[in-house]
Amino acid sequence: MAEEIQNFKVTIDGIPVEVAPGTTILEAARRIGGDIVPPAMCYYSSLEGSGGKCRTCLVKVSKGSEKDPRPMPKLVASCRTTVMDGMEVMNVTSPDVLDARKGVVEMLLINHPLDCPVCDQAGECKLQDLSYEHGVGASRYEFHRRTFERIDIGEKIQLHMNRCILCYRCVFVANQLTSSRQHGIIHRGDHAEISTYIKEALDHDFIGNVIDVCPVGALTDKTFRFKNRVWFTKPVDAHRDCPTCSGKVTLWYKGADVIRVTGRKDEYNEVKEFICDTCRFDTKKTADWIIDGPTQISSESVIASNHYTALQPPAVIKDNPALKEANVEQMARSERLK
Ligand code: SF4
Ligand code: FES
Repeated sequence: MAEEIQNFKVTIDGIPVEVAPGTTILEAARRIGGDIVPPAMCYYSSLEGSGGKCRTCLVKVSKGSEKDPRPMPKLVASCRTTVMDGMEVMNVTSPDVLDARKGVVEMLLINHPLDCPVCDQAGECKLQDLSYEHGVGASRYEFHRRTFERIDIGEKIQLHMNRCILCYRCVFVANQLTSSRQHGIIHRGDHAEISTYIKEALDHDFIGNVIDVCPVGALTDKTFRFKNRVWFTKPVDAHRDCPTCSGKVTLWYKGADVIRVTGRKDEYNEVKEFICDTCRFDTKKTADWIIDGPTQISSESVIASNHYTALQPPAVIKDNPALKEANVEQMARSERLK
């Protein structure tokens, strides 16, 4: 008989959770859900090798494990640190973490232009959210920001290198979803940039997913460019019988017109199923799709004005009868809204 694997007991900001050995602190926090989940600008659960680049997910390990309770000497990247049995982690309850996160945001914004009023990503930009939550009102930076020669990476995708935070997600998409890769990060340090090097167009069945994974407005959809502010659009889930991908998408309507097609995203802004470029760029008529219903948008998002979401109980509540009992009213409400 196979030996039963013992879960590890971990506490994050005082909330206990049990997870399988090998789980990262970030994924353990996502099992709990809510405000204690560290923000992540480079980690992307479905992209192998992602994480460890941006440091926004830093947390404090105040107790290493049951066997060795010594705290870890420095803050650690929760997306790259796996849990130990008995580990105690502090995220929003640690002033050190909040202070360090403020520093990380300031660092990310050193070279990021204040393009929000003209950037298509505004309203969906994770750096924008992070700055509101952890940033400071003014910059202390007095030098010229980095700028780059504009390069053309094809008809469908627009690259604004000045906005890139070098999270590597788009590189992982190209590595893992397409048959060959034409772009990457060239040079290092202050000179590092996303580039095709010999100015090739990015052209693959799934390359459009770089737009969805980019946490900022560095890679945007040329076919949607400047068409509308995202909070004036109406997102609707739809599907079609696609021979290349799952065909499950979100259609973004302006009046009766579909002005953008994207993958469907989860509460952590990660695409649930990557979609092909035909679904994304070439099927923009309502007649191409079977409509499933309005997209659920977090009530904290600016896109949520006039949309309401049902309660999404964190996994620990769903699995625990006592917590389910305590949340019975909200659970009933979410059932009614389905
Ligand atoms: S272009 Fe976007 S996805 Fe690619 S590394 Fe830069 S910020 Fe990340
Ligand atoms: S999300 Fe952990 S380092 Fe970027």
